[in-house]
Amino acid sequence: MSQSSTQPKVFVARQIFPEGLDRLQQFAQVDYNDHALALAPAALMERLKSADGALVTGSERIDAKALEFAKQLKVVSNIAVGFNNFDVQALTKKGILATNTPEVLTDTTADMGFMLLMAAARRLSESERWLRDGHWKNWSLGGMLGVDIHHSTIGIMGMGRIGQAIAKRALAFGMEVIYYNRSRLSPEIEQACQATYVSKEELLQRADHVMLVMPYVPENHHLIGTKELAMMKPTATLINIARGGIVDENALALALKNQMIFAAGLDVFEGEPDVNPRLLEVPNIVLAPHIGSATKKTRLAMMHLAIDNLIAGLKNQRPPNLINPDVWKMS
Ligand code: DGY
Repeated sequence: MSQSSTQPKVFVARQIFPEGLDRLQQFAQVDYNDHALALAPAALMERLKSADGALVTGSERIDAKALEFAKQLKVVSNIAVGFNNFDVQALTKKGILATNTPEVLTDTTADMGFMLLMAAARRLSESERWLRDGHWKNWSLGGMLGVDIHHSTIGIMGMGRIGQAIAKRALAFGMEVIYYNRSRLSPEIEQACQATYVSKEELLQRADHVMLVMPYVPENHHLIGTKELAMMKPTATLINIARGGIVDENALALALKNQMIFAAGLDVFEGEPDVNPRLLEVPNIVLAPHIGSATKKTRLAMMHLAIDNLIAGLKNQRPPNLINPDVWKMS
């Protein structure tokens, strides 16, 4: 299809599925970074210069510096629900609409949280490594003992959509659900999740499994460190499907090494894609490369929702998932 100069200019920061590219090319002149790797900040800044809209992922940092020369940018659409890669204040100051992709990934990500919990509690990665390394000679009564999931207590920190979906899975396992959140949920939601609101300290002390699902904001930086890990039971697991910066990884590696807690499961890392080498040294941890939402169906849905948001913004319509409504009010 020929592209006209009256079409908006859209910058796509990373490889996307072909059907997404087709959709965008029907509507815009597309500057496509056809690579799986994120661009360096200087290259990102350069490509944003002439864009009216940008489709980015959680790995592109969109801050005041990146936006310095982006004089015509109207909308930045994240293919992610988390948007800690955005400086929302800087975007709002420049009158740029910012959007994300909630809801479409809730159940897939909740499944991932539960999978990591089960794998960590039952030592799945450790057992498989041991088997592959040829150590399995006999069945033994005391071999590879884990901790139970069913009828235990799960402590969910961050009770948004994904936290609630995890709570519902936990109920099917006969678990008691306790939660901590910035604000207490309505009685209706608490009832639906059969969840009891507790303080952060009580949650850490009582939970057999601690699940982190809160957004990464500066107040949550290293929310789980040495002090918090020391409050947990020695039989407890810690699962993080939120953002790496929420956990002090050096403190966690030490706690696992000293068996201060039983095991951990991480899908997110503070310096990802680099993984803290201390985490790689401990056996009682399950590590995944940020794949919480990674099913074909869900990633396609995220991409299409992000494109819907982008196109709406460029057509001067309110995007369905607007993060900074103040920009809309100003326009
Ligand atoms: C999200 O959607 O926030 C996932 O973590 C992917 O970045």
